[in-house]
Amino acid sequence: MTSTRKTFDLVVAANRLPVDKQVDEHGNVEWRRSPGGLVTAMESVMRSNPGAWVGWSGDAGEAPAPFDEDGMHLRPVGLSAEEVRDFYEGFSNDTLWPIYHDVIVPASFHREWWAAYVRVNRRFAEAVAEEAAPGARVWIQDYQLQLAPAFVRELRPDVRIGWFNHIPFPPVELFAQLPWRAALLEGLLGADFLGFQRQADARNFVRACRQLLGLRTKGERVALEDGSGRRVRATAIPISIDYRGLEELAQRPDVRARAKEIRESLGNPKVLMLGVDRLDYTKGIRHRLKAYEELLLERHIGPPDVTLVQVATPSRERVEAYRSLREEIEQTVGRINGELGKIGAPAVHYLHHSYPREEMAALFQAADVMLVTPLRDGMNLVAKEYVTCRHDLGGALVLSEFTGAWHELHQAFTCNPHDIEGLKQAMLRAINTPTRDKERIMRALRRRVADHDVQRWARRYLAALDAAPDVPAPDPRGGGGAPVAPHESAPSATVREGPLTEGDGDPVGATSRGAGE
Ligand code: ADP
Ligand code: F6P
Repeated sequence: MTSTRKTFDLVVAANRLPVDKQVDEHGNVEWRRSPGGLVTAMESVMRSNPGAWVGWSGDAGEAPAPFDEDGMHLRPVGLSAEEVRDFYEGFSNDTLWPIYHDVIVPASFHREWWAAYVRVNRRFAEAVAEEAAPGARVWIQDYQLQLAPAFVRELRPDVRIGWFNHIPFPPVELFAQLPWRAALLEGLLGADFLGFQRQADARNFVRACRQLLGLRTKGERVALEDGSGRRVRATAIPISIDYRGLEELAQRPDVRARAKEIRESLGNPKVLMLGVDRLDYTKGIRHRLKAYEELLLERHIGPPDVTLVQVATPSRERVEAYRSLREEIEQTVGRINGELGKIGAPAVHYLHHSYPREEMAALFQAADVMLVTPLRDGMNLVAKEYVTCRHDLGGALVLSEFTGAWHELHQAFTCNPHDIEGLKQAMLRAINTPTRDKERIMRALRRRVADHDVQRWARRYLAALDAAPDVPAPDPRGGGGAPVAPHESAPSATVREGPLTEGDGDPVGATSRGAGE
């Protein structure tokens, strides 16, 4: 009997589906947009590249039935309550996340968390194998799914497998702490092509393969010794946002009117500062508040002339490090307002909510200074969203040099968030630089994001996947490759063992040219 089940030429697998299942106290189910930058970016890629998306619904229990939404086929993967605890909160976010972000908080190692990680990665691979058409492209996302590439290869040797890491890949000295380091590398080496945010991340991966697995490496390529003769290419392809879509939204009269209204409701301050982050210790919110508090105490700035809106999206609330961060931030905000606020003019407006895209665009337009101060961040799409929304060339971006975004947007008001004095100076410069100079900077930042949007990123990624381990021939449109087709029909022109190129991955290479092109 032949199966009539529909399969897909493009299958994306990510820990989360683009929508999150919410069940209220009466048992009513509502699907809301999932949090985080991965969904922001991949959702717009999938709108122009139809296919299937395999992911978790965000809720513990049986997987809901597959469904179609916005032209995508969504295939939920179920996680039990124990797996949410051990795979998602545990191994993904309390073991890997700290190790991959410079151990800002200590990592926890538990063998039962690892067992859940292996089991869930296999389940994702099985779902991918069922959804993929013969010769399909399978595009696995992020650190939660590092074993899935090898599991998919075992089940479906006919498909082309790519993986993209949305977060940093750590230096071998940190990665080596993981008791399961060899298995993680072997899982990733199941892919044909591995994409990273910065060239430094790709180099860390290649070096880990050499030093921890003893494999031969040459430039961006790792040679396997499993008798297959396969080589895997690892390079930087920094992610971006849907520039045109967001700019269009930001131009809408209702969004512009809302930006004005936000300023009015804050008492029309001379300077409105803004922070927008998941409530995560990597985002440097504590450092930002410390610098702001000191500027107030030293009377450089103060309410009502200057105020700060801090939007902190709830995140991973059952992980201890996130719980204690929330307590600390909320206490700090309370203290700053208690000591330095005025009646009707708090020094900090703290909002612990998620908002619709329109409201975010209005907030970005309302803010004179955007504070993006992570201690470590794979990319930080908020920085790119802010400049995209400033079609008026207004505003100023304070940007940490420890974000992937800084490697592209280095004309911003750069800061090292560990250096509180330096951060204060960057904030003051962002306020006091003459408008004409700020406009010039904003124009340059916007041009960079406009030229390197998420559609171009997806084209480049898929072309690199098709050509791997070789480098695809340059595309006159600047992206490389056709939008979406099984890899057999991909452009045949590839550059064998092309020269190693540096790009967006390094500060010195932060030009208008893309990495690895
Ligand atoms: P991360 O993936 O670590 O959360 P990014 O900055 O790359 O960080 O992406 C965050 C995404 O989430 C952006 O698209 C941003 O606009 C969105 N976002 C952040 N906070 C909120 C919020 N409170 N409400 C709605 N969207 C938010
Ligand atoms: O890229 C970082 C990441 O973990 C993504 O997988 C996700 O977009 C985002 O952060 C949000 O995290 P979570 O899915 O744990 O809420």
